[in-house]
Amino acid sequence: MDFKLTPEQSQMRQLVRTFARDVIAPVAAEIDRTDRFPRDLIRQMGELGLMGLPVPEVYGGVGADYLSYILAIEEISYASAAVGVILAVHTSVGTFPILYFGNEAQREKYLPKLTSGEWVAAFALTEPDAGSDASAIRTRAVRDGDAYVVNGSKVFITNASDADLFCVFAVTDPRRGSRGMTAFLVERGTPGLRVGRKLEKMGLNGSGTCELTFEDMRVPIENRLGQEGEGFSIAMRLLDGGRIGIAAQALGIARAAFDAANQYVRGRRQFGQEVFKFQGVQFMLADMATRIEASRWLVYHAAQMRQEGQACTREASMAKLFATDTAMQVTTDAVQLFGGYGYVKEYPVERYMRDAKVTQIYEGTNQIQRIVIARHLRERG
Ligand code: CAA
Repeated sequence: MDFKLTPEQSQMRQLVRTFARDVIAPVAAEIDRTDRFPRDLIRQMGELGLMGLPVPEVYGGVGADYLSYILAIEEISYASAAVGVILAVHTSVGTFPILYFGNEAQREKYLPKLTSGEWVAAFALTEPDAGSDASAIRTRAVRDGDAYVVNGSKVFITNASDADLFCVFAVTDPRRGSRGMTAFLVERGTPGLRVGRKLEKMGLNGSGTCELTFEDMRVPIENRLGQEGEGFSIAMRLLDGGRIGIAAQALGIARAAFDAANQYVRGRRQFGQEVFKFQGVQFMLADMATRIEASRWLVYHAAQMRQEGQACTREASMAKLFATDTAMQVTTDAVQLFGGYGYVKEYPVERYMRDAKVTQIYEGTNQIQRIVIARHLRERG
């Protein structure tokens, strides 16, 4: 394995790093405080090509490789985990459904809008009674002439407050379990679609998490994604990639927390010396750095496998599990190293800690990741 980046990947990472430092970082605390969806930043990210990085140029994307996209999520999340998840959801589970499972008419209609940042996409799978058990969704789609009539509700939908396009999963044949689910593309403004209240969260403010309800919502047949019954398989294949994106988000958060703590303990003096001089502090920093390095390898390895078209369900879950647990551990330790200053909002580490928590929960809880990994264990190796 070799993660020496190509000149193109390094150049792209530098571009995103500069943009994240100069444009996103200065407003990250304000986005957290006000919970505003940063449409202005998304427009700028669209102009830079970041909203369609791994999408072919013919659809308005940049045509970059998958690892470049993962590096972009990491760099943006270093500045703001909320902006990082907006990008990750928009691309991995909002744009890729159309790129990979859509027909040519759907690609031509929607991809240029999404890659330019004019439109934002969301992924609507989770329901009040179907989170980890995704195949238990109850939203129902019934064929009626040249449309489907959809009824049901969704919850915890990232980007929903401002999304222009939703990838919605519904049951078309309740007798067939996970083989009876179908995916649909639903435009904002479709009669019967109601974007509900924005949920007040512990962290990751600004990512526009809402409930959705569908009341006799008519979705034209041309907006069905793939065939009837393919929905669950589509969702699972999208989540394989999506989980690498969330792992990259966690890596960015952990790096930001580590850098802040590492700098702080070198400036702070107690008992007549730099706090960094205490061996207990050095041990904490050493463990934080080691976990981050291990996360980086897992994340880039999974991304590289995906880029090469290899099956990477297991590796994506391992990267997600380890990198997000690392983000939680590292951000918690960073708060500890800051002492009282870590607990107040003048410093960013308390935000990193609040933001890190959800990475262990969404795109499949870390308990679900363990189930996926265990199911993919071979007898040897
Ligand atoms: N790729 C392709 N197909 C897959 C697959 C994968 N990774 N995983 C499962 N499948 C297929 C199986 O092969 C099987 O196919 P057949 O019917 O043809 O045999 C079918 O799907 C059912 O598979 P399982 O029996 O394994 O399904 P299950 O009910 O046991 O559930 C699960 C599996 C992994 C637990 C799944 O329900 C799961 O991933 N749950 C977590 C849900 C989740 O991640 N939600 C995230 C919401 S989105 C989000 O969080 C976005 C955000 O805001 C950031």
